[in-house]
Amino acid sequence: MNSMQNRANAVMAFSISAIFCLLGAIAFSALVMPSSPAGSVGLDSIKVVTGRYDKNWVDYKTRNNEFANTVMQIDADLSSLFHWNTKQLVVYAVAEYSTPTHPKNQIVLWDSIIKRKSDAVIRKRGLRNKYSLIDVNKKWSNVHANVSLHWNIVPYVGFMTYGRSQPSEAYAFPLPSGVQT
Ligand SMILES: *[C@@H]1O[C@H](CO)[C@@H](O)[C@H](O)[C@H]1NC(C)=O
Repeated sequence: MNSMQNRANAVMAFSISAIFCLLGAIAFSALVMPSSPAGSVGLDSIKVVTGRYDKNWVDYKTRNNEFANTVMQIDADLSSLFHWNTKQLVVYAVAEYSTPTHPKNQIVLWDSIIKRKSDAVIRKRGLRNKYSLIDVNKKWSNVHANVSLHWNIVPYVGFMTYGRSQPSEAYAFPLPSGVQT
């Protein structure tokens, strides 16, 4: 009876299955694409100053929070992470350190979204931290931190994957030497 409709239905069902298989194949093949990302972050300087927690934060009583101001250099070549299923990369520099009260701390110092392969070779000098570097204990004395470059690969289809560089040497934070203005 409805043989046209049945046939259309079968074609649709087959097409949908085929599209899902294709998307699945793209998602999984992207996981095994060979790539050789390389990256490093180093700190040229760390300066600790005291100040209020935040200009917009209602904490006018204390000016005793210590802010660390860093100057970074970043070198990376993430261009091999771009292939047919790479929508963009989220790249961020992370400082890691431990304190007696909090053994694992990670703070993002800088980040960037890279949408083109031609932008995936990164060379930054004199880069200041984009986000405030404040510890929960409000002090930086006796802290040693290393820094590393991390990246998330955001695909068109499938799974977000992660990578990171080796951490740098551990840098010692100096005593406060000024007041944040
Ligand atoms: C980097 O710092 C973290 C946190 O202190 C530490 O666990 C890790 O071992 C350090 N890595 C290196 C290579 O020093």
